[in-house]
Amino acid sequence: MKGLTIDQLEKILNKKISERESIYPSDQGRIIEKLTTEDSKILIKYGDDKGLKNEIIMYNKILDADKNPVPKSIVCQKIGKEIFFLALEWVDGIHPDFGDANHIKKVFSSLGKWAAEWSVKIENFQEVPKVDLSAFSILSKLLEKHQSRLSNILGSTLIDMLYQCISYQEVVIQNLERCPLTLDPGDISLHNIILNSEGKVIFIDFKSCLVRPMIMVVEHLGEDYESIPYKKYDIEKALMSYLDAWNSFAKTVLTKEIFNQCHLCARIYYKIGDFNYWLSSIIEENHIEETKEWIDKGQRQLYELLKKLENETTL
Ligand SMILES: Nc1ncnc2c1ncn2[C@@H]1O[C@H](COP(=O)(O)OP(=O)(O)O)[C@@H](O)[C@H]1O
Ligand SMILES: [Mg+2]
Repeated sequence: MKGLTIDQLEKILNKKISERESIYPSDQGRIIEKLTTEDSKILIKYGDDKGLKNEIIMYNKILDADKNPVPKSIVCQKIGKEIFFLALEWVDGIHPDFGDANHIKKVFSSLGKWAAEWSVKIENFQEVPKVDLSAFSILSKLLEKHQSRLSNILGSTLIDMLYQCISYQEVVIQNLERCPLTLDPGDISLHNIILNSEGKVIFIDFKSCLVRPMIMVVEHLGEDYESIPYKKYDIEKALMSYLDAWNSFAKTVLTKEIFNQCHLCARIYYKIGDFNYWLSSIIEENHIEETKEWIDKGQRQLYELLKKLENETTL
């Protein structure tokens, strides 16, 4: 992906540019830059990346800085064959620090309010892509087709555990579906959140934005990624801040028990998504050794989650 020239950028934005600074390397099918003009600072993101196409649809159709905590969009359009261009108002501020309990509370309360408010509005936005909850059927097909090869490479204990997971699919899906739908920004991590100069939480990065059950917005809480709250106490704090704010603003109140049970199911569903990706890599012989390490770790996580499901839920 080649960068646009200053002339091209000035034409698209209809503004003179005095400074230009690259924010990200351009190896992912999109270029991200910070521009300074005579009267503003602008973030631009452009390229042929599929996620960027989705982000532009979201800004064009539903995200509105006057009503939602998102940056104001200045230009969002297709500028060439499958090249998408997004210009946003630059938000001065910092990314949250999830080592700070106040930041966790602030961010996840805002997210709960976001989820609650969108759960009402989302009914009017039919054009937004909606989750299809197909992870279990993808897993079944992978296992059916490649069972003996996968057993040979990964061992039968794992394959048995995955079949056991499939046997719980009904209860897992039911628990996801009992949660109201909302607009999931798609990738809640500290890099995609800005605390602006007034201390307000602003959500950015809508490449994977789609309509999903509210519990799936926090499906990754429980992973040990450093970009999200990952210590046990911090995860609990984040989830309860999310739930409390949800209950303050949503039409449907969720009890802590139901929320926790649904979260357990969202975690299992999330791991199935991971396994689908890893098993496909093994089948296609991509990064086998590295993938096996991920699978080992994932297997331990999934085992714990299933044990919890068996102990805490009527299956
Ligand atoms: N409107 C904005 N104002 C200020 N900084 C931004 C803005 N949008 C993005 N950024 C910064 O650029 C980084 C990358 O932007 P993001 O939209 O998350 O792109 P990517 O798709 O590469 O994750 C963000 O983590 C943030 O630091
Ligand atoms: Mg991002």
